[in-house]
Amino acid sequence: MRILIIQGHPAAAEGQRFDEAIAAAYARGATAAGHEVRCITVAALEFPLLRSSAEWEHGEVPADIGLAQADLLWAEHVVLVFPLWLGDMPALLKGFLEQTLRPRFAVAEDRSPLKQPLKGRSAHIIVTMGMPALFYRLFYGAHAVKSLRRNILHFCGIKPVRTSYFGMVEGNSGQRRERFLQKLEGWGRKAL
Ligand SMILES: Cc1cc2nc3c(=O)[nH]c(=O)nc-3n(C[C@H](O)[C@H](O)[C@H](O)COP(=O)(O)O)c2cc1C
Repeated sequence: MRILIIQGHPAAAEGQRFDEAIAAAYARGATAAGHEVRCITVAALEFPLLRSSAEWEHGEVPADIGLAQADLLWAEHVVLVFPLWLGDMPALLKGFLEQTLRPRFAVAEDRSPLKQPLKGRSAHIIVTMGMPALFYRLFYGAHAVKSLRRNILHFCGIKPVRTSYFGMVEGNSGQRRERFLQKLEGWGRKAL
């Protein structure tokens, strides 16, 4: 399986963050099982925010975004890792998706669901957060993740989409993190 991991924490990668460790654990498991893996660190890319529908439709695609589009076309499975910020994905990741999922690349010219260019790919959304994950799912209805899954990924033909959450991430015990990372390696091996 060809797997693309998109690590969406806005801070520059330093190898210290839990979201980085999640991406690395998944990649380790996947590579060990013989899958091909590519990784995009959104914080390392150069791109401006889109500011109009004209730019979205016809604006020049920044070089880093062009490379990300090529990775998406290459991939059969996409793993998206990000921290929950103000109840949603961080703005930088949203900006990256707006730039990347352009008309004709991710959405057919006539918006027809029958001609979705990225159809056939599956995805796994992995979200870390400060609150307990169960609270996010039951009280808030995991609204931002539902929107990402249905409004963005399904709209581009990417399905099925699996979701996983890691709550109470701040100040949590190393043991609990370690158990989650082991699970991640297993998911990587199975390309989940
Ligand atoms: C700007 C900002 C907004 C955040 N908003 C939320 C939130 O709405 N809900 C929540 O549970 N955690 C929130 N958090 C906590 C992050 O989700 C948590 O710190 C992150 O998943 C772990 O990554 P880090 O500590 O390596 O940055 C927020 C953190 C920051 C910096």
